Order: sequence, then C-alpha cells, then structure tokens
Amino acid sequence: MSERDQDQAPSSEATTLIEAARAAAAHAHAPYSRFAVGAAVLLDDGSVVTGANVENASYGLSLCAETVAIATVSASGRLRRVVAIGVIGGAMGPDGRATGDTPVRPCGRCRQVLNEAAQLSGRDLAVYCAGAEGSAVARYHLSDLLPDAFGPADLGIA
Ligand code: THU
Repeated sequence: MSERDQDQAPSSEATTLIEAARAAAAHAHAPYSRFAVGAAVLLDDGSVVTGANVENASYGLSLCAETVAIATVSASGRLRRVVAIGVIGGAMGPDGRATGDTPVRPCGRCRQVLNEAAQLSGRDLAVYCAGAEGSAVARYHLSDLLPDAFGPADLGIA
C-alpha cells in the first residue's frame, strides 16, 4: 500500500514544489502528445531545480520532466543533495497551458531515475503529485512508488 494521502493540507514544501512544477510545465516541448509535465526538485540547501518534458519528432526519444530535472541537478554535481520532487501535468489547452486537476505520478523509468538520487542521497525522497490545476496533492515516498528497487548499492556504490 502506498502512503498516498490526498486529505492532508499540503505542506509548504509540497506547495512550493507544486507551484514551481506548474511554472516549469509552461516550458514543456510537447507538440506530439500535447501533455505538458513539469517537475521541481528540492535540494538540501533549499534550492529548487526544475524541468519539463522534451518531446522529439522521433517519438521514442522524448524525455520526461522528472528526468530533465534530475539530469540538470546532476549536471551541477548535486545528485546527492536531492530531498524531494513535485510533479504536475495535464493535457494542453488551446493556449498550450496544461489543464486538469488529476495528479500525475512519475512513470516507471522516472521512478528508477529518481531512485539513483534517492540512494546516493540516503533519503527516501518525498514525491508530491498534482494536476495542472486544483488543490489535490498526492504524497508518496519513492519507496512507495518503487519498492525493493535496484540501485547503486547493488553495484557497490555508496
Ligand atoms: N511524461 C513525463 O514528463 N513524466 C512522466 O512521469 C510521465 C509522462 C511525459 C512524456 C510525454 O512527453 C508526455 O508526458 C506524454 O506521455
């Protein structure tokens, strides 16, 4: 069973990350699916790093928002400092903005990408999921979404 809880009032951490993810989704390049996703990663110094999905005319090469955000964190050498992530998404309206209030959860590949940061940081990452609009926030820990994960520890990497 997951630790999902939509009934609690969102924490300030969740609110900050969902707002940042919603802003990031405005930069989604998603002309094929017309489904915009934004992600916002919280680091242990309080900084927030965002990403949005980047689709490609060769559809299978598309990058998810969470993966873009984690890659950006890694590119600045801060993969071990990840604390939490907020993810939002929704179908793009005529103006290109994401719509809808159904929470978007990370896809399977993104869960594995997040697990790399989780194991290296030694934290069971908080994962906050929301729609493009509305107040519903589904809260998880990464271990809820990807239990018994394979990761760096299995290859002897601390
Ligand atoms: N997408 C993400 O960015 N993150 C996810 O966790 C799920 C899916 C993107 C990929 C694609 O650009 C669009 O959403 C539709 O699948």
